[in-house]
Amino acid sequence: MALRPYIVGNWKMNGTRAMLSEARAIDRAAQRHMKVEVAIAPPYTLIHAAHREAEQIGIGAQDCHPGEDGAFTGDISAPMLADAGAKFVILGHSERRECHGESNELVRSKAEAALKAGMRVIMCCGESASTRDAGKAVKFVTDQLRASLPEIEDPDNLLTVAYEPIWAIGTGNTATVADIEEMHRAIRALLVELYGAEKGAEIRILYGGSVKPDNAREILAADEVGGALVGGASLTADSFMGIALAA
Ligand code: G3P
Repeated sequence: MALRPYIVGNWKMNGTRAMLSEARAIDRAAQRHMKVEVAIAPPYTLIHAAHREAEQIGIGAQDCHPGEDGAFTGDISAPMLADAGAKFVILGHSERRECHGESNELVRSKAEAALKAGMRVIMCCGESASTRDAGKAVKFVTDQLRASLPEIEDPDNLLTVAYEPIWAIGTGNTATVADIEEMHRAIRALLVELYGAEKGAEIRILYGGSVKPDNAREILAADEVGGALVGGASLTADSFMGIALAA
């Protein structure tokens, strides 16, 4: 059974309590468009409040520590996030991989911790401009994913993959539909190899990287695109729901 298109907002390091009004507005609008599954990942500081105030949409986190508790100053564990109301965690985002030196192995252990805590995982992957220019994008992304994805018996609805070419994030440059389809088909083949024909075919593959209301329709209609992971355009209910409505 095909899952609904999944439109996820990654607020990154944006948002104080004043932005909860946007979360409420997204929640209200999402209730009128049930054909699309809508979720947002606000910063840690807003997760609990957003979970209380935006009851219909999924609230998630942008990272977690691989451990459960202990002497890790400044870190937040998966059980803590679940306790705060997070239903999913975005992992392996290129900004974490680049700014915090996160390896595939670390990302994978975080995914295992998130699943163990009862949360869903959105696993990000994506190549740099130089890797794409060298013609190595598909191999790089599938190798990265193969090493980052957790072992999981039943990935259906627990695992989502997000393809985000690094050079498209926050730049206004989106990949062409042909490039998106080529990459998403390669990711689909990998998911089928890892999780089996039936389960691997059900996992949604999101596209991320400068998705806006005016380009969303074309991107979301592309083959093997099951939704979008949205950064900048998810910060206001108007633009974010403009994307959701295009799905
Ligand atoms: O995770 C979402 C992302 O990195 C894309 O950001 O601002 O290009 O939509 P943006």
